[in-house]
Amino acid sequence: MSNNLVYERVHGNMLSLGLTTAEGIVDNWLSTASERDISTMEVLDHLFEQEVSKRRISAIEARTRVSGILVKKSIQDFDLNFQKSIDKKVMNELCTLSFVHNADNLILLGPPGVGKTHIAIGLGMEVIKAGFSVYFINSAVMIDKLKQAARQDKLEKKLKALNKYKLLIIDEIGYLPFDQEASNLFFRLISRRYERASTIFTANKSYSEWGEIFGDPVIATAILDRILHHSITLNIKGDSYRLKNRRKAGTPFPKLNRGENKQA
Ligand SMILES: Nc1ncnc2c1ncn2[C@@H]1O[C@H](COP(=O)(O)OP(=O)(O)OP(=O)(O)O)[C@@H](O)[C@H]1O
Ligand SMILES: [Mg+2]
Repeated sequence: MSNNLVYERVHGNMLSLGLTTAEGIVDNWLSTASERDISTMEVLDHLFEQEVSKRRISAIEARTRVSGILVKKSIQDFDLNFQKSIDKKVMNELCTLSFVHNADNLILLGPPGVGKTHIAIGLGMEVIKAGFSVYFINSAVMIDKLKQAARQDKLEKKLKALNKYKLLIIDEIGYLPFDQEASNLFFRLISRRYERASTIFTANKSYSEWGEIFGDPVIATAILDRILHHSITLNIKGDSYRLKNRRKAGTPFPKLNRGENKQA
C-alpha cells in the first residue's frame, strides 16, 4: 500500500474518531520523533495526552458558559487573612468538594461585601473543574423565572431543569422579601433537591429572620428544616472587602451622588 494512502487513512480515521487535536499535531510529532530518540509509545502517549487535556479544557469552558457565572472568582484568590471569621480548616474541607458528593447544602450568611458570592462562585468553579454541572442564579431572578414558568404551565419543566445541576447556587436570599407564591415555589424547588443534590445559598439575614423573608413562619420553618438537615453554615462576620481600600484611604463610605460604586 502506498505511503500516501496510509497517510491519508491515518488522518481520515483520526478525524472520524474526533481526535482533532492529535490529528493536528501527529505529523510534527512523527518528524520530531524520527530526528530525536523518541519511541513510538512516547509519540502515542503525547498525542493522547494532548487530546485528553484539550477535551477537558473544552468541557470546562462549556460548563462555565452554561453556569450563569458572569463574574468569575477563584477560591484561591479569596484572602482568608482578611476574612478571619472563616476557619481555614472548614474552607479546606469545602474545597475537597465532599459536600457536593454528599448532596449537602452550604449556607453563606453575612453582611454585604464579606465575600459570600465570591466563595459560592469560587467553589462553583471548582465543581465545574471537577467535571460536574453548576448553575448560579440570583434568588429574585430565579423566582421571576419560576413564576413565569407557572403562568405558562411550564413549572414542572423549569423545576426539572433546575434540578439537573449537581450544584445550584442561589445568590442573595433576603435582600428582597418573597410573596406567598414565591415562597411556595421556593419550597417546591428545595423539596426537589433535598437529599439529592447540593445547593449553595447566600443570604444577608440570620436564620431567625428567615420568617420575614418568606412572609410566613410555617413555610420558612419547612424550608429551613430541609435546607439545614444536611448542611454546613458559614457565618461570615467583619468588614466589607469592598470598603477595604476606602478605609485605607480614609474614606470608608461610598459617595452616593457619584456613579462609581456600581461594581463589586
Ligand atoms: N476575603 C476576600 N478576599 C478577596 N476578595 C474578596 C474577599 N472578600 C470579598 N472579596 C471581594 O470583594 C467583593 C465583594 O465580595 P462579594 O460580592 O463576594 O460579597 P457578598 O458577601 O456577596 O456581598 P453582598 O451581600 O453585597 O452580595 C468581590 O469583588 C469579592 O471578590
Ligand atoms: Mg453577593
